[in-house]
Amino acid sequence: MTALLTLLLACSGPEPDTADPCVQGDTLTWANWGDGFFATYCRACHSATTPDRKGAPAGVDFDTWPEVVEQSAAVRSAVLERGTMPLGGGVHAEDLDRLARYLDCATAEGEPADDPVPWSTFGEPEWDAATLEGRLSDALALGFPTARPLIDAYLALMARGDDTCPGDPRQITDVHLYGCTAESGVTYSGITEFMEEPFTDGDHEILGQAVVGDARIDAPEGSFLLGGHFGEYAGVNTVTGERLVQWELQGTSLWSGGEGWMVDGYSALLRAEHGWLDSGRFVTLSGAISYGGVSIDFSEVALHEDTCGWAAEGLLLLRDPSGGWFSAALEPCAPCVALSFEGEPMPEDLCPDLAPLAEALVGETP
Ligand code: HEC
Repeated sequence: MTALLTLLLACSGPEPDTADPCVQGDTLTWANWGDGFFATYCRACHSATTPDRKGAPAGVDFDTWPEVVEQSAAVRSAVLERGTMPLGGGVHAEDLDRLARYLDCATAEGEPADDPVPWSTFGEPEWDAATLEGRLSDALALGFPTARPLIDAYLALMARGDDTCPGDPRQITDVHLYGCTAESGVTYSGITEFMEEPFTDGDHEILGQAVVGDARIDAPEGSFLLGGHFGEYAGVNTVTGERLVQWELQGTSLWSGGEGWMVDGYSALLRAEHGWLDSGRFVTLSGAISYGGVSIDFSEVALHEDTCGWAAEGLLLLRDPSGGWFSAALEPCAPCVALSFEGEPMPEDLCPDLAPLAEALVGETP
C-alpha cells in the first residue's frame, strides 16, 4: 500500500537556524550543500578518484570537508577573487554567494552540522502570539495544500497533449526536458512519471495516484503548473462508506490556474491523512510546509472531532521571520496553549484555530 508514497522521501523537522550572519536563510553544511557544490563544479578534475584530472595539480582535491578547509584560501582566491576556477566558469551566481558564506563560516573545528551546540542564540522574535494567530488564519483562509487538485490539474493538462508532445498522456520523458509545444498550444517541459495503482484491501477500495518528477506545463491561456512530487491514496470502505485519504507533498509546486493556496503554491515535506471513521472525522499531519506566508511544522499533529469541536494534539511549530521557531504543545479541547520561542517561554499563550484546516481537508459529508 505504501509502494507509491515511499517513492517520495521521508519528512524531516526544521533545521536549526539562527540569526547569525553565517546561517541566515539556510544553514549550509557539507552534507546539504558543500559536497554537492564541489562534486558539480570541481571534482571532474579535482578528485583522488577522477579518471582524468585534465591537468589539475596533484593533491588539489575536494573530496572531503577537511580538504576544503585546508585549501579554503586557495579556493576563495581561485573561484571568488580571480574567477579562474572552475575552468570554463559557469558557476551560478547564487552558488558563488553561498560559497563565500560557506568559506566564511566554516572552520577547521568542524562544520556546523557536526557541532552539537547551536551556533548562536536567538534574540527576541519579530512576531508575537497575536501575529502568529493572524498569519496562521490568513494562510488557512487559502485552504490547505493537498495532492488531489494538483493531480487533477496535471492530468487535465496532460490530456491536452498529442502523439509527439509529450507523446504520453501520463508522463513527460527526458526527450522533452527542455520543452515541446503540442498542437493544443500547451507546452510541456521537465521530466515526470505518473503512477496509478487501484487495489482492494479488505473492505477498502483504494486508488493510489502520484506524480513524481519535476515539470513546468504552460497552458496557452497563460496558466501554468510547476513542480511534481505529490501523491495520494484515496480509500473507500465499500461496506460503511467511510473515506480515508493519505497524501504526501514534497518540494515546491504551484498551479496558477487554480484557486486559494494553489496560485502561489507551497514548499513542503509533508505526510498527512484525513477521513471519516465511525468515530468521526479526523486529520493527522506530520512534516513541514511553507505557504501563504507561514512556515508550519507539524510534529505528529492529530485533529479529531469532539464535543468541543476539533480537538488537537501534538506539537505545532511556527517559524518567526528571524528564522527561529515558536512551538506550542497542543492539548485536546484547550483553545489556548503555552507558547515558547526557541525553548524560551513567551509571555502570551497561543490560541491557534485549526478548525478551518480540518474543515478544508475533510469536507462535510462522508
Ligand atoms: C575542467 C577541469 C577543472 C575543473 C572543473 C576545476 N579545476 Fe581547478 N584546476 C584545474 C587545472 C588544470 C588547474 C591547474 C592550472 C591552473 O592553475 O590554472 C587547476 C588549479 C586549481 C587550483 C590551484 C591553483 C589556483 O588557481 O589557486 C585551485 C585552488 C583550484 N583549481 C580550485 C578549483 C575549484 C574550487 C573548482 C570548482 C569550483 C575547480 N578548481 C574546478 C582544472 C579544473
